[in-house]
Amino acid sequence: MWEGTIRETVRLNNGVEMPRFGFGTVFTNKDIIRWAIQYGLRNIDTATDYDNEDIVGQAVKESGLKREEVFITTKVWNSSQGYEKTLAAFEYSLKQLDTDYVDLYLIHWPCPDNDLYIDTWKAMEKLYKDGRIRAIGVSNFYPEWIERIKNECEILPAIDQVEYHPFYQQRVIKEYCDREGIQMEAFSPLCQGKVEDSFVLKKIAAKYGKTCSQVTLRFLYQENIVIMPRSTKEWRIKQNLDIFDFSLDDEDMEIIRSLSTPQGRINMDPYTFHEQKNLKDQIKEREEREKQQKNQ
Ligand SMILES: NC(=O)c1ccc[n+]([C@@H]2O[C@H](COP(=O)([O-])OP(=O)(O)OC[C@H]3O[C@@H](n4cnc5c(N)ncnc54)[C@H](OP(=O)(O)O)[C@@H]3O)[C@@H](O)[C@H]2O)c1
Repeated sequence: MWEGTIRETVRLNNGVEMPRFGFGTVFTNKDIIRWAIQYGLRNIDTATDYDNEDIVGQAVKESGLKREEVFITTKVWNSSQGYEKTLAAFEYSLKQLDTDYVDLYLIHWPCPDNDLYIDTWKAMEKLYKDGRIRAIGVSNFYPEWIERIKNECEILPAIDQVEYHPFYQQRVIKEYCDREGIQMEAFSPLCQGKVEDSFVLKKIAAKYGKTCSQVTLRFLYQENIVIMPRSTKEWRIKQNLDIFDFSLDDEDMEIIRSLSTPQGRINMDPYTFHEQKNLKDQIKEREEREKQQKNQ
């Protein structure tokens, strides 16, 4: 029923075409990003917080592709929220990426406690109108915060990038985004590798002769969610792309939908994410906790 290709794009609410299959770059390096581009990925997700915008820019340049052939997303970090600070943060990102525009600029976290995201958004609207960004969006936003943007600003976000994988499917946000014409994008789509341990996914994967990661990515793809798995291994980058020669049937889609629980979240909850903690520290802390639990 479904074919698709890794070059397929989705049309955002401002008409910009965004590749549906992307690559997450946290904890990667230039060679890894180059492999991703070499294997056909044209949508690269970075953030000032990942401290790797420079190598993303270099990898794109060294790929030999034209700048407009690669869709680059970056994000304004929490400590740069507010109108003037966001304008400055954007200039910093451009310099790091060594480019004169970004395709998609996101507010990384809402940080509703400091109440600055409206000012941040207004700065992004200015940059968008000035032609420096092709599309603007948010990340980790619940509908209530997008509603504020809708009521107090001019431009509706094009994207909401949130944690979304079989064990934590934020369907309330998905339904809201679908209604409002906002594209949902999944981060940690493989639950940081944990999908490979699922008995249910293993059974489905065996049926299609695929891996649990491929089944998961195919599931998200069929849910019309933009995906950007990360891997530091060349063979896995390639393997994760191999999802276009099968499609999950309705029954399997329903089974995977039923795997989501409120305990399935692995990243921070935006409601309580009030500290300026970066993603690397979160992942390190969680790995440390898991190591301690294993040793008990
Ligand atoms: N907006 C936000 O707040 C936010 C938050 C988190 C992440 N993100 C973005 O989303 C991207 C992806 O999320 P993520 O990095 O958290 O997690 P992810 O893509 O769900 O998983 C990455 C992990 O899964 C492993 N993996 C990849 N393919 C695999 C396979 N086929 N089999 C087994 N394990 C596999 C990788 O290990 P190996 O390297 O060993 O292959 C890595 O440890 C990030 O890189 C970042 O760009 C955004």
